[in-house]
Amino acid sequence: MSNEAWCHPLIAGLAESGYAVLENAFPPALLDGLRAEALAQREQFRPAGIGNQAVRAQAVRGDSIDWLEWGEGGESLQAFWQAMDSLRDVLNRELYLGARELECHFALYPAGGGYQKHHDNPQGRSARMVTILLYLNPDWRPEHGGVLQIYDPEDESHVLARVEPRAGTFVAFLAERFPHEVLLAQHERLSLTGWWRRG
Ligand code: OGA
Ligand code: MN
Repeated sequence: MSNEAWCHPLIAGLAESGYAVLENAFPPALLDGLRAEALAQREQFRPAGIGNQAVRAQAVRGDSIDWLEWGEGGESLQAFWQAMDSLRDVLNRELYLGARELECHFALYPAGGGYQKHHDNPQGRSARMVTILLYLNPDWRPEHGGVLQIYDPEDESHVLARVEPRAGTFVAFLAERFPHEVLLAQHERLSLTGWWRRG
């Protein structure tokens, strides 16, 4: 995974349109391994907070999350951190992003969960620069819903991209720019979600 080739289409997408969607970005064995590592620590997942962690608004955001420390985990997470290390190099070299830390968690939506339209970094108030998503659902079908919709910041009624959370699909977008939403999932939906931060 030290090969950076997979990063280049992402960089091109980020540079041209501010977002990129890459299918089959990671080998199936790595995706299976990440899924297994996530589900092995299932009892550590906690309902996600909105802004203030004390406020739990299931109707707005239905996922449970498990925060990850950089470098933790088994073989598959190790390979993931290595891939992210390469991605950081490329982001900084090609886009002069100055990304330093990756804030990262697994996210599990139960059937019936979604996440209403939101910004990850409203008005650039936080240190989050780029949102990344890696989906870990091997048998996802269209009727399972759970689509990520990325909206046009100039016209929020216009959907720029609809992404099914199939295993191996990797998404990156500029965190300040794009409103986005997770449509209701009809099936349990697992992902690894992160934000490249200035530090
Ligand atoms: C988030 C988010 C999108 C997804 O966690 O902030 O928007 O597709 N997730 O899981
Ligand atoms: Mn988000």
